Amino acid sequence: MSDSALQVNNDRRVLSGMRPTGKLHLGNYMGALHNWVRLQHAYACFFFVADVHALTTDYADPSKVPSYTHEVALDWLSAGLDPERCTIFVQSHVKQHYELHTLLSMMTPLSWLERVPTYKDQIENLQEKDLAMYGFLGYPLLQSADILLYGVPGGSLHVPVGADQVAHVELTREVARRFNHMYAPKADGKARGGTEQNAENLQRELLNEPQVLLTPTPKLPGTDGRKMSKSYGNFILLSDPEAEIRKKLKPMVTDPARVRRTDPGNPDRCPVGDLHKVFSTAQTLADVYAGCTTAGIGCIECKGWLADAVVRELAPMQERRAKYEAQPGLVREILAAGSHRAGLVAEATMQQVRAAMGLA
Ligand code: TRP
Ligand code: SF4
Repeated sequence: MSDSALQVNNDRRVLSGMRPTGKLHLGNYMGALHNWVRLQHAYACFFFVADVHALTTDYADPSKVPSYTHEVALDWLSAGLDPERCTIFVQSHVKQHYELHTLLSMMTPLSWLERVPTYKDQIENLQEKDLAMYGFLGYPLLQSADILLYGVPGGSLHVPVGADQVAHVELTREVARRFNHMYAPKADGKARGGTEQNAENLQRELLNEPQVLLTPTPKLPGTDGRKMSKSYGNFILLSDPEAEIRKKLKPMVTDPARVRRTDPGNPDRCPVGDLHKVFSTAQTLADVYAGCTTAGIGCIECKGWLADAVVRELAPMQERRAKYEAQPGLVREILAAGSHRAGLVAEATMQQVRAAMGLA
């Protein structure tokens, strides 16, 4: 596979990462991965497993990080990320991430990190972990380094994230602007043909300011009606076999107003209805509305249709998964090749950064 085939020098780039949380579920898929699979056809894409980020919360017991990293990568490939089309890598394999983080930490005001909304939230939400660590405060700046390494001056870098990560990309933009302001030489107006330009337009760009590509996320409840989440144990894995999917969906909570089989229900107030909206065909969805609101169908039948739709969605993924699982070592090879390629792009950025900061 050649680098030119992958268009690593393409000016329209996408970069995103995911923490290694183990096998992915439908919520992870609809929240990010599904979108990534589409983006790989339109941009030069870089996707990485954020294993260093995992340590910011799991530093005391990192024993699961390696297997989770492998499982996440396998799920990505199964879902249709194509290593011939995008660069898939592991954060810790590309040492420039550590390096840029350190250098950016020299010029990032502490107050910028302290005011990131996720910082105090997380410390409160994860009471069982002591997060009063240097690395945890610096987490968003590590993320800024992750992003800025893959920008190209004069190009465009898009970061697909959910709403919860927008503040981190905003911080990244501020860091890039501050960096350019401090270290990039001012351009000479005359060199651009002598046209009138204000001072701001003359600011050269060393680090490209990234843009948020907000991922539209449908409401995706788990089997207990709460948001599908690993910690609630209410999830369906991308790798769950058909029998497991049916078993998990059967007791799923429904419209609480529909107590007896003869009571009409409302799919808009039912978590099963929410999943139908994401996975079922328009025809099935119409049948659900008609049957539910007239008590023409029972909830067990309705959940059976949902299981059919989920099984159909996951079938091609599980086929690809079987192929990868039949070739031991292949996932590791793909990650090694991707990390090598990512390293070349990251190194080009670092050469500029080192020189700008007096380390040439
Ligand atoms: N912080 C992100 C999350 O928890 C993961 C992540 C790390 C990331 N580095 C990134 C996402 C860079 C986008 C770009 O989901
Ligand atoms: Fe929910 Fe379907 Fe039962 Fe209606 S029929 S309440 S949509 S499970």
